[in-house]
Amino acid sequence: MSSQATPTGRVTVKTLRKYKAGGEKFSSLTAYDASFAAVVEEAGVDVILVGDSLGMVVQGEETTIPVTVDDMIYHSRIVRRGLQRAMLMVDLPFMSYSTPEQALHNAARLMKEGGAEVIKLEWGELQLDMVRRFTECGIPVCAHLGLTPQAYFKMGGYRVQGRDDVTAEHMLADAKALEEAGADILLLECVPSALARMITESVSVPVIGIGAGADTDGQILVLYDILDIAPGKRTRFSKNYMEGSGSILEAIRRYDEEVRARTFPAPEHSFE
Ligand code: KIV
Repeated sequence: MSSQATPTGRVTVKTLRKYKAGGEKFSSLTAYDASFAAVVEEAGVDVILVGDSLGMVVQGEETTIPVTVDDMIYHSRIVRRGLQRAMLMVDLPFMSYSTPEQALHNAARLMKEGGAEVIKLEWGELQLDMVRRFTECGIPVCAHLGLTPQAYFKMGGYRVQGRDDVTAEHMLADAKALEEAGADILLLECVPSALARMITESVSVPVIGIGAGADTDGQILVLYDILDIAPGKRTRFSKNYMEGSGSILEAIRRYDEEVRARTFPAPEHSFE
């Protein structure tokens, strides 16, 4: 168990802020049920995400778009039962936060019915107001920038974001505006390492990266990718931790240790 956990042992947003202030890295993984959640927690991982990636890795859909709020509540509730210490973050799925009223209603359901402690939403211009409203209502919020899979059809596929100067500056400005609006955590997906480092150094809130290089405060991956059971081709930014591990617990422990020791992600898992 981490030395930075709260006296009651529960990881909170405050714990992650302390990690950032102390220059300590932390790990995060997705989970979709109680049994895996318990193993992920036992391995030492601080933040568990019930991601809408469950649409692809659990439900076998091609994108995350079909996932519903009820799906998220069901998986969040069963993950919650497997956890005692780790922080539970849950995604608002596609089109469940298209107005501030709808967003508040669905975030409240994820917290009350699903046991979520932090609500994650994918960033778009509209969301600045939502982040403010969430903050006013005391809802911890994580804003997901860079590659936002719910915009798959709009982006025309899954691509690294922020490679040119204009989009990079835009993302940096968005990150600062989100912090100003009250975001508790930022998550950067598929962003060049140098831009991710600049964003991480420019905000005081913890930044979690996936395909965003080694310099973000925390790292996150999809559980089924590191256990090599995800359908299709493994993404460049992930790593098969079952290779060389005798059990699932050992594989997840190695991931957690490598993140804390800054040996994952290596340059081959990152983008320029
Ligand atoms: O849905 C998900 O699992 C995610 C992670 C890839 C960050 O958003």
